[in-house]
Amino acid sequence: MVNYIEAVSAPLKNTGAIRLYTADDFAGMRKACLLTARCLDELAAIVQPGVTTNAIDRFVFEFGMDHGALPATLNYRGYTKSSCTSINHVVCHGIPDDKPLREGDIVNIDVTYILDGWHGDSSRMYPVGVIKRASERLLEVTYECLMRGIEAVRPGARTGAIGEAIQTYAEAERCSVVRDFCGHGVGRLFHDSPNILHYGRADEGPEMKEGMIFTIEPMINLGKPHVKVLSDGWTAVTRDRSPSAQYEHAIGVTATGCEIFTLSPGGFDRPGLPPLSR
Ligand code: MF3
Ligand code: CO
Ligand code: CO
Repeated sequence: MVNYIEAVSAPLKNTGAIRLYTADDFAGMRKACLLTARCLDELAAIVQPGVTTNAIDRFVFEFGMDHGALPATLNYRGYTKSSCTSINHVVCHGIPDDKPLREGDIVNIDVTYILDGWHGDSSRMYPVGVIKRASERLLEVTYECLMRGIEAVRPGARTGAIGEAIQTYAEAERCSVVRDFCGHGVGRLFHDSPNILHYGRADEGPEMKEGMIFTIEPMINLGKPHVKVLSDGWTAVTRDRSPSAQYEHAIGVTATGCEIFTLSPGGFDRPGLPPLSR
């Protein structure tokens, strides 16, 4: 049984109920998400061969401080960084460190700012210098997966429509969908109900309703879908060491479809890739 609850009257913990937010709440999310998107825009010029992921992480921390926002990952379940930086075969939750990025790497940078209590959660892929054609194709496929998932969002449809759209496209492109991590309700909480699977069928999952806010964040591999988590307890990598990519938006369900809160204000939704005519 799915349970929906007005966000204002709900306890601030994940009870399994799906929060429905108001127009004022959407305005709060818009601000937090715009700040995250502005940070991800700035990072497009910072990501270069030789730059360490710790330097990127420091920028994310300071940009947040300068704008009255706290990175949600700081001290989250024992995580101690302001961002996740996932390089090449790292699927997600890569921990920033002092290793410099190298020409040809592909890196996901995932940032969540808390601004006025609202969580702006988004990530993008950044090519480091010139990358292989196969890597570029993986980024293009993964971005398209995210946008096809978003296009499946409207009240009355089930969340499985998102997963079906993503899985169908990824597999038609001979890529695979990671099953071990999913999108999630977001808003007053960082990780809330419902889980948004990036695979499945349109008749599965809870019905989407106006006022729901969640992320879509497909992780797509060039090889097999299987992942393992390293002994640091965070870093998830592909078992076959094939490259993996991820883009993430936070969206709100509207009367007719959805609003993407984390769109790039500078047109850097796909940093380092040729602009789309979409
Ligand atoms: N931002 C990630 C997400 O999209 C979660 C990172 S949690 C961390 O849900 F602890 F690994 F940082
Ligand atoms: Co997320
Ligand atoms: Co994220």
